[in-house]
Amino acid sequence: DWNSGNVIAEQVDRIRAQVGEGRVLCALSGGVDSAVAAALVHRAVGDQLVCVFVDHGLLRKGERDQVENDYVASTGVRLVTIDARQRFLDALAGVRDPEQKRKIIGREFIRTFEAAERDLVAEAAADGEPIRFLVQGTLYPDVVESGGGTGTANIKSHHNVGGLPEDLQFELVEPLRTLFKDEVRAIGRELGLPAEIVGRQPFPGPGLGIRIVGEVTADRLEILRDADAIAREELTRAGLDQEIWQCPVVLLADVRSVGVQGDGRTYGHPIVLRPVSSEDAMTADWTRLPYDVLARISNRITNEVREVNRVVLDVTSKPPGTIEWE
Ligand code: XMP
Repeated sequence: DWNSGNVIAEQVDRIRAQVGEGRVLCALSGGVDSAVAAALVHRAVGDQLVCVFVDHGLLRKGERDQVENDYVASTGVRLVTIDARQRFLDALAGVRDPEQKRKIIGREFIRTFEAAERDLVAEAAADGEPIRFLVQGTLYPDVVESGGGTGTANIKSHHNVGGLPEDLQFELVEPLRTLFKDEVRAIGRELGLPAEIVGRQPFPGPGLGIRIVGEVTADRLEILRDADAIAREELTRAGLDQEIWQCPVVLLADVRSVGVQGDGRTYGHPIVLRPVSSEDAMTADWTRLPYDVLARISNRITNEVREVNRVVLDVTSKPPGTIEWE
């Protein structure tokens, strides 16, 4: 029967057989799938693997640090981080349309990755051992689903950051192709990956870029990152991580509301909490969070995050509301 140790041993053998002495490239997103796939490949072929992590500036608080420090420390993978924060801000300047934002973020991600890839390919070729393989964290449900789009795919273009250009000259290495998500998490734990990465709830590829209703700016990202970190911290502290599927935190940057804070009247932005319960994200219900947890999150956000003077709760199920606001 199923045992993560056996699966690891079996995949390590397979990867070695496929890759031989070849060099391998992997794009890390900070999510579970790419992290576990890369760790398996590293276990199999060590420093024949190089990982690329694009910091597009749309990450949540602490995520880059988790990858660069905790993940690297626990796996030993060779990691190249590309700081593309300014590039994404420039590309998103003035853009408010959700679909437009998704397209731009997907496009910039591919361009950024391609530039890094060119450098690494050239470097490896100069070394006499070209990069011929690319790791993808494809899971069994992705395999089954491929070809037919999902219902939501017709409404929003989904970009898996890590979703890569189609004309790449690489042979794919897909060590998670036969696995379900919970199995991938078990393997990640067995491989000793950081709990924050292995247990991470779903997070969209376009990141915080589609959780700011309005134009994405550096200031707004900072506000949202702070509010999101508070919400996550309080949900974890209340022991609710298993109960919720995910809880997007959304900044209504194009809306202002009046408040009284300290001595004066303020004109700030509302933050939306969108806790949902779900099996597969195709349908979802809003999670009935305890009032005292909601109160703590609201108090802390309005006290600690400048420019936010109101916290509201999204009580819409999916359908009709999607999980993300954009
Ligand atoms: P929606 O908003 O369509 O989201 O109800 C369903 C699930 O998908 C996640 N999501 C994305 N994941 N790239 C991703 O990898 C994306 O572009 C994207 N958009 C939404 C969302 O967080 C939820 O879990």
